[in-house]
Formats: sequence, structure tokens, C-alpha cells
Amino acid sequence: MARVLSCIQPTGSVHLGNYLGALTSWVSGQHRNDVFHGIVDLHALTVTDKPGVIGDQTLQLAAVLFAVGLDPKVATIFVQSHIPAHSQLGWIMECTVSFGELSRMTQFKDKQSKREADFVSAGLFTYPALQAADILLYDAEEVPVGDDQKQHIEITRDIAMRFNHRFGDTFVIPKAVTPPVGARVMDLQDPSSKMSKSTESEAGCVYLLDPAESIMKKFKRAVTDSDNEVVYDREKKPGVSNLLDILSAATGTPQQKLADEYTQYGKLKSDCGEAVVALLHPIQKRYTELVSEPAQLHDMLGIGAQRAELVAKQTLQRAQDAIGMTPKK
Ligand code: TYM
Repeated sequence: MARVLSCIQPTGSVHLGNYLGALTSWVSGQHRNDVFHGIVDLHALTVTDKPGVIGDQTLQLAAVLFAVGLDPKVATIFVQSHIPAHSQLGWIMECTVSFGELSRMTQFKDKQSKREADFVSAGLFTYPALQAADILLYDAEEVPVGDDQKQHIEITRDIAMRFNHRFGDTFVIPKAVTPPVGARVMDLQDPSSKMSKSTESEAGCVYLLDPAESIMKKFKRAVTDSDNEVVYDREKKPGVSNLLDILSAATGTPQQKLADEYTQYGKLKSDCGEAVVALLHPIQKRYTELVSEPAQLHDMLGIGAQRAELVAKQTLQRAQDAIGMTPKK
């Protein structure tokens, strides 16, 4: 049984990329592995500037996580800020990563450029150090993520190895695990960019809680490629291939086989929309039930926090002892 950790930020609404790239693997892995999944509200603070928003988003995200099928009896679902060890180890990680390494993070460069006139917090820059703490605190061997997080897992490995080299064997070296299909779901309006919460056009992003009509509309308007041939080739035909990836992830049929079945873009688009509507319908139903019971969600997160705290506290202590921060009296 492998120890698994992965997290999601409570910013914006959960979309199909989050679901196919990460959440489906979290759900399928929970009975095979010992899994920890965090709602990382401290990470969301890097871009939070309004009061009274983050708490609600955290609770709504918890409802989504339980609605997609994470079972609090087997999976440890927790909120990052409920476990002080994240901030504590986060600082130690900041002191174990270099300015140069952080400067090379593509996600930082991307986010910084998108925020042009906005405030760019120092937290946005040091973000990967806190993410390293999230992972290392749980001795995670595997981190199930979408493609876009691979660089963050790589830097976590580098930080862990540097720490182990400096202070002795302390941390487990984790590895990223990406799903065979859906690791990089692209924007329906701009298939050269990944589907993202911070998208410029809502039409390109399918949210988990979108009504059926809106999902169908988004797929019907999806940007495809200039000719009219249904071929799976991510480089030459990114729009069509993205649809085939989504349909494949939703139905379990390989992309190549699906490509052979279609001769027209129109039919592919509407079948893709219908498959996603069918996939999301039961999740939306459970979400509506769960979100109407905030007290129950708080209880479920409370159980997760207790279990997570137990593990995180011990690892933090191990790291502090390795450094020699608490000499014996
Ligand atoms: P976040 O909140 O942006 O995304 C959560 C998960 O969704 C995946 N994902 C995608 N997968 C496929 N296609 C897409 N278009 C797509 N967009 C998002 C992400 O890869 C991720 O797995 N930094 C992380 C949160 C984090 C974390 C961690 C993750 C904090 N600490 C520790 C793993 C381990 C983030 O912002 O994910």
C-alpha cells in the first residue's frame, strides 16, 4: 500500500481538467493506497485580496471532493491551514530551496505575467516551497497530479534530497503520477493552452457544476482544426485530439478507436458533450446534497484534520530533530 498525497487549491471553480487530471485518480486510488488529500487554502492566499471568500470556497471544494467519490472513511481529506505543520515545514523548505530554483518555475512566470497590473505576492514566488512541505510531511511516495504540476514535484524531490544530504535521511523522495488519459485537458476555445481556472474565456472551460445546457453549448462551440478529418494527433490537430482525449477519459474507449468511429466534427462534439454531462450528472446531484449540510462537511473535515495532524506533526518533529533545533536538555 503506497502512501499518496495530492492537493487542490480552493480558488475558482473545479473544472474538467482538475477532474480528469487529478480527482479521478484520487478516487480510484483510495482503496488501493493510504491517501491524503488537502484543500490548500494557504496556497490560495497567494492570490486572495477579498475578505470572506476563502472559507466558503474551501467548504464548497470539500463538498466537490466528497461528491466525486472520495470516502472520508478511507481517504484523509483535510484543510491545509488546519494543520500548522504545513506553515512550519514550509519555512524550513524555503530555507532549503534557492532563489534561482524558484525563479525557474514556469507556473510562477506564467502567473506573474497574467497578473500584469495586479499585486504579485512574495508567496506566489515561494509557493513551491510550501508545496514541498505539503508532500514531504506525509512521507508521500506518489503524488497523483496533472501534467502541469510535474515541475513542482521535481523541485520537491530536489529539496528533499538536499535536506537529506545536509541533515541526514529524513524525507521520502516522492514521484509524480499522471493519468494515462486526461493529464493535460486543453481549453476548448484555445487548445494550445491548458484548461484553467484563470481562463480568459469561460466558454473554453467546463466547470464540474455547469448545467447540462451550458456544457453542451461549450462542446458544440469548441474550436477544432481547419480540415474536417477526425484524426488523433495532439501536435497537428490539438482541438480534435483534445475532444478525443476527453471522450476517451469519459468513456474508457481509447482515442484511436474513437477517431476511427467518427467522420464529422459535429457528431464528435455533441457526443463528447453528452458523455461529459452523463459523467457529471451524479456528481452534481451529490454536491447539491452535501453542500446543503455545512455542519456535516465541517465534521468530515474535522476527522481528516485529526488524522492528517498525527502524521504531519511527527514528520515535522523528525525534520526539526534532524536539523538539531531541539537539543536534549
Ligand atoms: P490546482 O488546484 O491548480 O489543480 C489541482 C489538480 O488539477 C490538475 N489540473 C489539470 N489536470 C489536467 N488538465 C488540466 N487542464 C488541469 N488543470 C489542473 C493539477 O495538475 C492538479 O493535480 N499547486 C497545486 C496544488 C498543490 C499540490 C500540493 C498538488 C499544493 N500542494 C501538493 C500536489 C501536491 C495546484 O495549484 O493545483
